[in-house]
Amino acid sequence: MPQPPRREPVIRDADVPPPPDTGVAPTVAPAGLWRFIFGNDNPVEIEIGPGTGTFVLANAAVRPQTNFLALENSRSRTLHLQQLAAERALPNLRILLADAACVVGRLIPPESVAAYHVYFPDPWWKRRHHRRRLFGSGFVLALARTLAPGGFLHVATDVEDAFARIVQSLQESGCFRRDPSRRPPRNTQTSFERKALLRGVSVREATFLRIAAPLDAVWEPGGAGGSLQ
Ligand SMILES: C[S@@+](CC[C@H](N)C(=O)[O-])C[C@H]1O[C@@H](n2cnc3c(N)ncnc32)[C@H](O)[C@@H]1O
Repeated sequence: MPQPPRREPVIRDADVPPPPDTGVAPTVAPAGLWRFIFGNDNPVEIEIGPGTGTFVLANAAVRPQTNFLALENSRSRTLHLQQLAAERALPNLRILLADAACVVGRLIPPESVAAYHVYFPDPWWKRRHHRRRLFGSGFVLALARTLAPGGFLHVATDVEDAFARIVQSLQESGCFRRDPSRRPPRNTQTSFERKALLRGVSVREATFLRIAAPLDAVWEPGGAGGSLQ
């Protein structure tokens, strides 16, 4: 039986409606890439590994003046999430099938992101898989390079060890300060969070502020030289 053509997920600028006249000033400097993708200069927030998309779908719906980009490296999850987003007709949401480490490390313009959301990143338990863990030093520096000054990184996980490692690598970078007065803006539980809570595992979460740091001294333009994982 002939197979239907495979739909490739792509970022398109077609069908992007003109930005609504809200009178709200963007908090992030306009960057050509974001205007191309979203058709406006609203602040951009990125979710890494949205999975079923509970967070990003809900937030894009209730915060129409913020643009959301979701980076998911599973083809099936990306296609499913694109379908849900299309059904909800959210003009401020784009979903990209991509390795987040590569996109953040190589494609995102400097100081152009208002916030990152990383909820329940894969723990990669086996030693031989450790290199796949997201929060290596290269990835942390890529987050720092692309976050606007004063931007936020929101993190949650049900793995105590992973949480400690993430906190340590962010603090050691000198580019982030944990902000105990804030918590990730999660108004609904994500799928993995629900599973963790059902197992009786507690969830750790934190918000980090991007602080000024001499990034030029440590950041090599053009990528993080294989240390992204
Ligand atoms: C444990 S799931 C969590 C999903 C969702 N955030 C939640 O809380 O339900 C991790 C997700 O991150 C995605 N992922 C893992 N590594 C990634 C990478 N390098 N780039 C983009 N997505 C990634 C996985 O495919 C998966 O959907």
